[in-house]
Amino acid sequence: MYEKMKGLLANTVPDFELRLKADLAARINQLKREKNAVILGHNYMEPALFHSIPDYIGDSLELSRKAAQTDKEIIVFCGVKFMAETAKILSPQKKVLLPSEKAGCSLAASISAADVRELKQKFPGVPVVTYINTYADVKAESDICCTSSNAVAVVESLDSESVIFIPDEYLARNVARETGRHIIFPTFDPTKVGDTELDYQMIGWPGRCEVHEKFTVEDISNVRKQFPDVVILAHPECSPEVVEAADFSGSTTAMIRYVERTKAPRYLLLTECAMGDNVAAANPEKEMLRLCSVRCPHMNQITLEDTLASLERDQYVIEIDEEIRKHALRSVERMLTIG
Ligand code: 13P
Ligand code: SF4
Repeated sequence: MYEKMKGLLANTVPDFELRLKADLAARINQLKREKNAVILGHNYMEPALFHSIPDYIGDSLELSRKAAQTDKEIIVFCGVKFMAETAKILSPQKKVLLPSEKAGCSLAASISAADVRELKQKFPGVPVVTYINTYADVKAESDICCTSSNAVAVVESLDSESVIFIPDEYLARNVARETGRHIIFPTFDPTKVGDTELDYQMIGWPGRCEVHEKFTVEDISNVRKQFPDVVILAHPECSPEVVEAADFSGSTTAMIRYVERTKAPRYLLLTECAMGDNVAAANPEKEMLRLCSVRCPHMNQITLEDTLASLERDQYVIEIDEEIRKHALRSVERMLTIG
């Protein structure tokens, strides 16, 4: 394990840390086999974990599909809580473990099921598209889910003049731009009904990813000034201005594929910083610029130590009320039929 990790990560992780982490990874892989478990690892996992223990790596959509297909008894989700919940929604008979109780998400925390019910009351009959970065009770109030890789396709699949798209303001604005829709952000204060609310095709919610909202157009122009030939990739949770100023925008896996399939002199990823290290390790012949200092505090909670403890002690078990799960399942399954 140490040799394998050294081959990939010698330039990213100090040697003493690699030795410790390789030992932990070997113990996790052993226990994983003994307990008939599968480990799913999101693209934002720290490099040593990402390149050692997951059976499957990927973006939210890919990992949802793997969670639906696995025949293992235990799913250990190296990601954040909404992802582990999605796995439980799809595989209720499996034990789903999240290695840290603190792995939340600012988007998932930005909206409640009561907020969605209020939106539906205000816009009766308008279908609700809910980003996968939400908790099960919010998904249960929705008509269909989407991820960053299929959001446009999901909105276009609905035969509806208007849609409610929650909770990421920037993703909603980016989808609105791509689908040519006019978006509004309603307030629940009846004294503040703006005239723009008379004409809309998308209704958004002011949730933000605390990582992606930090990137600015100024960051992009500064990097371009210094490296005119850089190719800049931005996650669609970045602001529309940032997405427009970038050369490519897509889900975490779409960005990885883009780097793999193109031959630019250098790249810059505007996303969670562990992913830049993971892509650099897998593509040593490509130059990745390191502007990034923005680590997702939630993804950062998932460590090799906690993953080992998770398997040893069966913690932390994801539980979802069965009524909520069944309703949430409809929205997730409907999304999976679209792509
Ligand atoms: P992806 O679906 O693109 O992997 O994104 C998940 C996420 O949390 C991005 O911040
Ligand atoms: Fe949530 Fe942003 Fe972290 Fe993704 S990067 S888990 S959207 S806070």
